[in-house]
Amino acid sequence: MTTMTTTPVSTVPDALRPLLVVHTAFRRDARALRTAIDGLDPADPREVEELASCFALTEELLAAHHHHEDHRLWPMVVAQDPDFETHAARLETDHLALGRLLTEVRGGLAHLAVATGEARSRAHRRLVGSAAALEAHLAEHLDREEALLVAVAHTSFTPEELETATRQLAKAVRWREALQVVPWALSAATPDERREAMASLPAPVRLVLPLAEGRFRRRFGLFLRSARRSRLAA
Ligand SMILES: [Fe+2]
Ligand SMILES: [Fe+2]
Repeated sequence: MTTMTTTPVSTVPDALRPLLVVHTAFRRDARALRTAIDGLDPADPREVEELASCFALTEELLAAHHHHEDHRLWPMVVAQDPDFETHAARLETDHLALGRLLTEVRGGLAHLAVATGEARSRAHRRLVGSAAALEAHLAEHLDREEALLVAVAHTSFTPEELETATRQLAKAVRWREALQVVPWALSAATPDERREAMASLPAPVRLVLPLAEGRFRRRFGLFLRSARRSRLAA
């Protein structure tokens, strides 16, 4: 599987690799959303409903990811390197803009579910534009964030400090959240990344993971198929 990050993997400290897997999953979702909306039959209510359900999970995870970065990760980085403050402000502004695009897509999907005739075609065309804008803005944000984080990790943290910081951040993730995030992130991981992630998971999470992965695949089938098709076409 191709890792869609544009950050050269060789420059990434080990402690930041899980974050990049999460970013790969978000890039995959934004692309799957755009591809699924492009090929959508807006008159098929089941297809619209399935698409809205997949998007709702991506939106929830992305909102939680932004909250985690704004309230936990940036303060931790700024405490280590006060110069990061201006970058943190820029990344928070990106998060707000992405939040508005997520709201636009959610509203577009809700409108599509109830519109008919010409209004439905117009709603579909608007949604195609919103999904393309979300994909482009998210890609730009993730590229910027990864470049800034890799740079500050090298200049302001020792490998041990980085390890401690990522362990502290992982501890803040609740069980319920982990059982949603882990199957989703692993579905975008390479076999090596999966092996590494599995080794670092607490035993109770590993135990219930097959169940959680099955539930995730049933809910997220449309996006996973859409991502597979766009990969094959690339
Ligand atoms: Fe991020
Ligand atoms: Fe971010």
